Amino acid sequence: MSIHSRLVGSGSYLPEKIVTNDDLAERVDTSDEWIAARTGIRQRRVAAENEYTSDMAYEAARRALDDAGVDAAEVDLIIVGTTTPDRTFPATAVQVQAKLELNGGAAFDLQAVCSGFIYGMSVADGLIKSGQSKTALVIGADTLSRLLDWDDRSTSVLFGDGAGAVVMTGVELENGLGTESGILSTHIHSDGRLAELLYCDGGPSTTGQSGFIRMQGKEVFKHAVTNLANVVTEALDENGLESSAIDWLVPHQANKRIIDSTTKKLGMDTDKVVLTVQDHANTSAASIPLALDAARRDGRIKKGDLILMEAMGGGLTWGAALVRW
Ligand code: UT7
Repeated sequence: MSIHSRLVGSGSYLPEKIVTNDDLAERVDTSDEWIAARTGIRQRRVAAENEYTSDMAYEAARRALDDAGVDAAEVDLIIVGTTTPDRTFPATAVQVQAKLELNGGAAFDLQAVCSGFIYGMSVADGLIKSGQSKTALVIGADTLSRLLDWDDRSTSVLFGDGAGAVVMTGVELENGLGTESGILSTHIHSDGRLAELLYCDGGPSTTGQSGFIRMQGKEVFKHAVTNLANVVTEALDENGLESSAIDWLVPHQANKRIIDSTTKKLGMDTDKVVLTVQDHANTSAASIPLALDAARRDGRIKKGDLILMEAMGGGLTWGAALVRW
């Protein structure tokens, strides 16, 4: 008998306000053509003035619980992958816990930037397998619009706000996971030597305030292509699978060209890739659960489908998860 974790519901939330590439071209020297050709992005969502990461995280969590048909009272673990907490402390996760009117179990934030959702699933998977949690909410939520220098065209065109969530439950299986639905494996990595390639200046122990996102785009791009190819190969190899076994690739939505490159390296058809970057730009930790939820709700992802998720972000951090829905 072994315990495995299973994804039983998903939910997502995007703020109402849409900012198009043309809107940005009114402020900085850019164009819809440049942004679409270099990134695949057509528009992004921006949170309202009084809308915070915990609000979006709560909304996505609520929708994921509804989708799963799980009562919030059953949740004993909340992990929020975020780089943009409402406050320096306490964690956004405890604010979500309070909004859900829960007071048991554990709730904490996990800071792995764009890899936050994969990291969160990996940690929740470990806690479920060890018997410390039975029902977990893993949320990716970010309000990167608040960390943007809107006059810097090299970053302002790339990011947006949003949240996505999954409900994970523990199941005891007599003969291992086999072809049952659940998490086959997760893989997480980081290399702090590359921190200067993508960071936000400032912080509580330095300037006391958070600053703006700074990025060496070309370098990040190169590392993303290499690290993502390596980590998806690692995930497939560990499970003795060929890429042809994958029904859906649900990648971090940062740049269509990075996604295309990973798809090509895997030898996968582009129609097996869930692409949402055009609609909401790079929403950091929220991007994978946003894409996952979109593909579940429009009927593409069905029970029994094998899904490969992958992400890379500031840190650098990167990771992958193989999941049977
Ligand atoms: O989750 C991980 C987070 N980050 C990423 O995934 C980002 C990874 N990197 C990228 O996606 C790409 O590197 C970018 C989209 C950021 C940039 O694309 P690129 O093909 O690497 O362009 P570049 O930085 O080499 O810039 C090419 C040109 C430059 O002009 P010159 O020097 O050739 O005259 C830039 O100044 O494009 C210019 N440029 C722009 N032009 C119009 C840079 N940003 C813009 C812009 N609009 N927004």
